[in-house]
Amino acid sequence: MKPQQEDISAVTKPTAPVYGVGDSTLQAAGGEAGVRELVDKFYNYMDTLPEAEAIRTMHADDLTESREKLTTFLIGWMGGPSRYAEKFGSINIPGAHSHLAIGIAEKEAWLLCMQKALDDQGYEEVFKRYVMVQLSFPAEMCRNR
Ligand code: HEM
Repeated sequence: MKPQQEDISAVTKPTAPVYGVGDSTLQAAGGEAGVRELVDKFYNYMDTLPEAEAIRTMHADDLTESREKLTTFLIGWMGGPSRYAEKFGSINIPGAHSHLAIGIAEKEAWLLCMQKALDDQGYEEVFKRYVMVQLSFPAEMCRNR
């Protein structure tokens, strides 16, 4: 039987998490330490997944700076303190990638590393989906072919 409108709202309203307000996304990610773990896993996948080989070679051999830059960027992007700006200055994400050849395959490889890292973090399914949907926009804007 089709549920009544009241039933749907009674079920979904109290349980629907809110992300993107204040630092709620950062909190759901486990705070700054959680984002650092997420980015470590992300780059470990980039380092090992065959699908990510082409984008791995775009990076320096030593990923220390990339880890630091993506971690600090995501902390601010998730509503936390502007750690990237404090350390490295301002950034425009598509502009920071314009010297790289990024097409659909490269974008998908980047998002695959992120999906796998999110899975390993043991986050709630709805949170992982939120982060992937939100990141798919800047990832698409990095695409230049
Ligand atoms: C679409 C696929 C993407 C690829 C293939 C990619 C690849 C890269 C590479 C190779 C670098 C190092 C650049 C260099 O050393 O000159 C880099 C830097 C960076 N990426 Fe990405 N990226 C992608 C998407 C994203 C997205 C969606 C974000 C964030 C939402 C992001 C955030 C960053 C940041 C913060 C840096 C450091 C920039 C700097 O300070 O110079 N990237 N990326």
